[in-house]
Amino acid sequence: MTTLKAVRGTRDLLPPETALWNRIEATARSVFARYNFGEIRTPVFEDTSLFARGLGEETDIVSKEMYTWEDRARAQSEKTQTLTLRPENTAGVVRAYIEHQLGESGQLQKLYYIGPQFRRERPQKGRYRQFSQIGAEVIGPPSAGSESPIRDAEVLEMLATLLDELGISGWTLHLNSVGSAADRARYNETLRAALVLLAPQMCADCQRRAVTNPLRVLDCKVLADQPIIDTLPVIADSLDESSRTHFAAVMAALDAAGVPYTRNNRLVRGLDYYTRTTFEFTHDGLGAQNALLGGGRYDGLSEAIGGPKAPGIGFAMGEDRLVLTLMAQELAPPQVADAYIAPLGENLNPAALSLARELRRAGLSVDLGDGSFRLKKSFDAANKAARNIVILGEDELQSGILTVKTFATGIQTKVIRAELACFLSTPATE
Ligand code: HAM
Repeated sequence: MTTLKAVRGTRDLLPPETALWNRIEATARSVFARYNFGEIRTPVFEDTSLFARGLGEETDIVSKEMYTWEDRARAQSEKTQTLTLRPENTAGVVRAYIEHQLGESGQLQKLYYIGPQFRRERPQKGRYRQFSQIGAEVIGPPSAGSESPIRDAEVLEMLATLLDELGISGWTLHLNSVGSAADRARYNETLRAALVLLAPQMCADCQRRAVTNPLRVLDCKVLADQPIIDTLPVIADSLDESSRTHFAAVMAALDAAGVPYTRNNRLVRGLDYYTRTTFEFTHDGLGAQNALLGGGRYDGLSEAIGGPKAPGIGFAMGEDRLVLTLMAQELAPPQVADAYIAPLGENLNPAALSLARELRRAGLSVDLGDGSFRLKKSFDAANKAARNIVILGEDELQSGILTVKTFATGIQTKVIRAELACFLSTPATE
């Protein structure tokens, strides 16, 4: 029989790496709480039209990367639906905002999410078909100040704080403004006109994009196309007065907060809902897939999917890429228990379980061995799994004095049971 494996582009996350995932998520939750964000959990699949309308039919994600299927009706009362595994979470959050009339409160909604997303991309390091995002959105009616450039700057400042607290150093914030929908339409036409002459010298994808969605030409990674792209008109020249003022205010607030950024005229992002501020944080350690996170403003998304006017701004971080970056920085904590309890004989297994219970209740992490193991096997297992081994034989049980060996120092100590938890929680000194 052929052995079954995880599907291409998906993977299992195992300890000790999962400890790092948990640490990242705990840090993110604590930073989000300080900025007064609340958690939202939306379904992992949605009606396909949410993504088609929200992200744009012409985007790579919608045109070729979505996992979509016909969901057959199971009863006459049901209709067959076309459903899609979410390729991103912003559209789902905005759908939920509309569905639950969150705008009625008149307040800004500050929502964060952590969860899996699905895109049928060509898998490589840092790019998977199931990956996890940590993201957040700030959305609300214009009367709540949702369009204000201070919202953009606050989100970016929060991201700088979050990356710092995660211990990720050496990131670059790329910042651009893609303007209002009208600015973008104007720029699209300017680009289209410029590309009439240039596109025939470019790659096949660019030739197609020059006609269907000229903005996407700026995303092209083909080396030979770069000098041509550098000669194209820049979007900054197509921004109207209010988009320019908005962008200048975002930059002024970042300057005041001391958040460093690089202006990047080519940053147009791969989703059609963006308006005005767009950004990406990159990290050189990641190789080809160097975007740690991306985001921006989406002032027209709610209306595009049938909701009220609800400007918003948000981001999503690739959690897989955060983990890769931290592992490269060797910040992954090894997962080692405080103690391994080795009962000397199967008859001592129940007493060992009771001792483990006592120590775990005191907050220690404990591995429980098995009295059927020979002492050497217990020591080998303990050495891999824990900082200390606690020997529990008949004598130890009767006397209440346990033998503890600390692997880091090689020292063996007799410890009375009442002091064991305290002893085990103190780090060994050489
Ligand atoms: P995005 O740029 O498509 O934006 O994805 C955000 C981040 O998710 C990327 O920077 C990357 O770190 C990670 N990512 C994307 N695709 C993959 C993949 N195949 N494998 C691993 N990681 C990946 C969005 O998704 C927007 N919803 C962000 C946003 C929120 N904009 C406004 N609000």
